[in-house]
Amino acid sequence: MDAKTNTKSATLTVDGKSFELPIHSGTVGPDVIDIGKLYAQSGMFTYDPGFTSTGSCQSKITYIDGDAGILEYRGYPIEQLAEKGDFLETCYLLLYGELPTKAQKAKFDALVTNHTMVHDQMSRFFQGFRRDAHPMAVMVASVGALAAFYHDSTDINDPKQRDIASIRMIAKIPTLAAMAYKYTIGQPFVYPTNSLDFAANFMKMCFAVPCEEYKVNPVLAKALDKIFTLHADHEQNASTSTVRIAGSSGANPFACIAAGIACLWGPAHGGANEAALQMLAEIGTVDKIPEFIAKVKDKNSSVRLMGFGHRVYKNYDPRAKLMQQACHEVLKETGHGGDEMLAVAMELEKIALSDQYFIDRKLYPNVDFYSGITLKAMGFPTSMFTVLFAVARTVGWISQWSEMIGDPQQKIGRPRQLYTGAARRDYVDIAKRA
Ligand code: CMC
Repeated sequence: MDAKTNTKSATLTVDGKSFELPIHSGTVGPDVIDIGKLYAQSGMFTYDPGFTSTGSCQSKITYIDGDAGILEYRGYPIEQLAEKGDFLETCYLLLYGELPTKAQKAKFDALVTNHTMVHDQMSRFFQGFRRDAHPMAVMVASVGALAAFYHDSTDINDPKQRDIASIRMIAKIPTLAAMAYKYTIGQPFVYPTNSLDFAANFMKMCFAVPCEEYKVNPVLAKALDKIFTLHADHEQNASTSTVRIAGSSGANPFACIAAGIACLWGPAHGGANEAALQMLAEIGTVDKIPEFIAKVKDKNSSVRLMGFGHRVYKNYDPRAKLMQQACHEVLKETGHGGDEMLAVAMELEKIALSDQYFIDRKLYPNVDFYSGITLKAMGFPTSMFTVLFAVARTVGWISQWSEMIGDPQQKIGRPRQLYTGAARRDYVDIAKRA
């Protein structure tokens, strides 16, 4: 264990019997009370649905201080990485723990670039989907299917094979994402272009058609690269925890990432940007905002301000500030500067930030508040928003999975429960049941 065990400990007293619980400290952030031996000692479990007070692992990858609005990858603030670096540099950092040297960066970029093509049989696999399939459904299936194509990178006990699997996923998942999009709009797949950088190549695979020359807009490609960096990792969120739990049984890494994609799809997680955009469209004009805010505050309605609030951030999500900046850059470039939706978003943000309901509950804009408008202006349809999130988050999932598999203390994830069902009763023959 790398965490420091404190000299202080916690004492839990139940029915006059006391249990000493060790306390560990990380590098920064709150200490944790170690309850690992509590059941053996006391016969009791702890209860924490939604894991609001539970740390599930030790990790050296990402640090969040939700109260201060801080996000760091391997100690580097997200603001600096998004402003000064590029997405593949962040990938290297998340995977290997340090920023690359110039030579390491060039080698890594070439490695990812040279693995972007997927097996040609994949295109036949796609033909089995309905034309109107949601691209996230296609992603869950096609990323899981990679397990059937790359047997030489699935021995998880071999660090070299783990590395090959990681590179393959970072490189090929964007290709599958673009294929998922092309398939649903009935256009031919566009092969990757190795001379382009990561984001530009992705844009070309999504937007080029064989009958026309496609020139990548560098402003949009740079903004997309920044969006990928902002979404690259976010410590033990729902989809990452899903990947870790799936991987803790020793399951195939491609299948574990497919599980993460499935979890990301939900509207409380990666699907929120799609929901936020729908909400802005429904509000329509600035004068309708007070009516909408009243609905959000009404306890009898289930309406939420999408793109607001976060389980961890009780302050402005640092990614939201950078996303707002990227949004302005993209809208200026695409000529949507006076977009009504942007006007609604900005006014909504202003009103919500000064409203007591939101202040009391510490609800601030999260990364999804501006990402929908930005991606829409770039030309992506709403159904692709969460797919883009998955493309970016792949590196975070893979880094966390790799860290877990490489940890000698790793165990299968197996929570317990508070059983509230029927107590033991005897089987009644069907003829005798009322
Ligand atoms: N609009 C209105 N009220 C809200 C909102 C919201 N977006 N979010 C939370 N609340 C209220 C909630 O009604 C509750 O009020 P009360 O105490 O009066 O009952 C209080 O705030 C606490 O809410 P909670 O649901 O217990 O908080 P949580 O930590 O379980 O939920 C959340 C976090 C992100 C699921 C939630 O804030 C939410 O549903 N937000 C909208 C969806 C969204 O934008 N999700 C993207 C998250 S960031 C990207 C990602 O991680 O994928």
